Amino acid sequence: MSLKPETLAQADAIVAQYPQARSATLPLLHLVQEDRGHIAPEDEAWIAAKVGVTPMQVREVVTFYPMFRLAPVGRRHIRVCRTLSCALRGSYALMAELEKALGCARGETSADGNFTLEFVECIADCGCGPVVQVDHALHENVTPDQGAAFAAKVRASLSDPAYGKAAPAPGTPEWNG
Ligand code: FES
Repeated sequence: MSLKPETLAQADAIVAQYPQARSATLPLLHLVQEDRGHIAPEDEAWIAAKVGVTPMQVREVVTFYPMFRLAPVGRRHIRVCRTLSCALRGSYALMAELEKALGCARGETSADGNFTLEFVECIADCGCGPVVQVDHALHENVTPDQGAAFAAKVRASLSDPAYGKAAPAPGTPEWNG
């Protein structure tokens, strides 16, 4: 088990909050993914033992919810909304631009491990599409013609030591090119 000691301590506190330990499955998965970046098979076994279910039952939860990941993601996890409002505003064309600019196919991680590019369903910001989430930051109104510039900013963030310390707030267009 290579999770941080504070994760292990938090896990015990989470399980203690529930009358039935199995109800802690989802919060434990979130906790582990926050720590490791994805859910490894050993995490499923560890959570299963903690909440009294089988590893397969934990796997069923992991694969039901799209926010859980079974494999590591790139240094920047880029999610483009493809649901109706964003699609009508060009999210498919935007995705094509990002694929080209980042050298990464949708649904995959680039060979250098820097980017994971995915389509996702509605992320609840439908009035400002196309919406792109990069790690924890939301970027609104990223139109296809801004795709190359947006990709360049994401790429530049790889060498920015301040990255992630003050993410743009929802509704602010700092990165929107
Ligand atoms: S349709 Fe894209 S955020 Fe809702």
